[in-house]
Amino acid sequence: MGKREQLYEGKAKKVFATGSADYVIVSYKDDATAFDGTKKGRISGKGVVNNRMSNFLMSLLEKAGIPTHFVEELSEREALVRRVSIVPLEVIVRNISAGSFAKRFGVEEGIVFDRPTIEFSYKNDELHDPMINEYHALALGLATEDEIETIKSMAFKINDILKEYFLGLGIKLVDFKLEFGRTSDGEIVLADEISPDTCRFWDAKTNEKLDKDRFRRDLGGVEEAYSEMMRRVFGK
Ligand code: TMP
Ligand code: ASP
Repeated sequence: MGKREQLYEGKAKKVFATGSADYVIVSYKDDATAFDGTKKGRISGKGVVNNRMSNFLMSLLEKAGIPTHFVEELSEREALVRRVSIVPLEVIVRNISAGSFAKRFGVEEGIVFDRPTIEFSYKNDELHDPMINEYHALALGLATEDEIETIKSMAFKINDILKEYFLGLGIKLVDFKLEFGRTSDGEIVLADEISPDTCRFWDAKTNEKLDKDRFRRDLGGVEEAYSEMMRRVFGK
């Protein structure tokens, strides 16, 4: 392949153009940030784990009827995906209290909810991704009412599928963040990634954290946690 035009560089991924306006290439980096980019580091091998796991999970979701941006794995770190315009909402689903939920509402981590919760953050670095509700999103013109309904029902369906899948691997899916995109014909599809960067995974027996919280909280064993998740999913 010739020299590719880089369209975008984010904190954890780069996006390159292809010969087609409908597709882009995502390249996963080992760079890790937390707390709005104020904590910076590197997690060796993370790009490979996140690319492979995300591609695998998106394929699993496609089979279950969820439309996603994923097209094809190109290499260890790269995937071909449909070009979308990202809906500027971070969609967070929670099954168990942790992280900002525990902090905001003053409860301990580990409370298992009777029903999953959903919340939105406005994807805006300058404003530090504030939490917003559906009415705010509508008022700001971030998405239409129909799009928000589609996003919510897809997010809960994704949760049902992934929760069951990970439980089969001895993993509790505590919470996760999704992003959605609009294709050129206006279809809402799951985009971004699903990985230990964007999910909280706890071992079902020991509650050991097997995700990016090990980096965020300086718990050590960061690379090992990503490798362990790779082993659970791919068996090696
Ligand atoms: P939180 O408890 O910090 O709000 O995080 C909820 C979930 O969202 C957790 O699985 C980590 C993920 N997440 C991201 O993917 N990106 C982010 O920028 C943040 C803050 C959280
Ligand atoms: N990656 C995000 C940031 O740097 C936060 C996180 O995942 O904790 O803002």
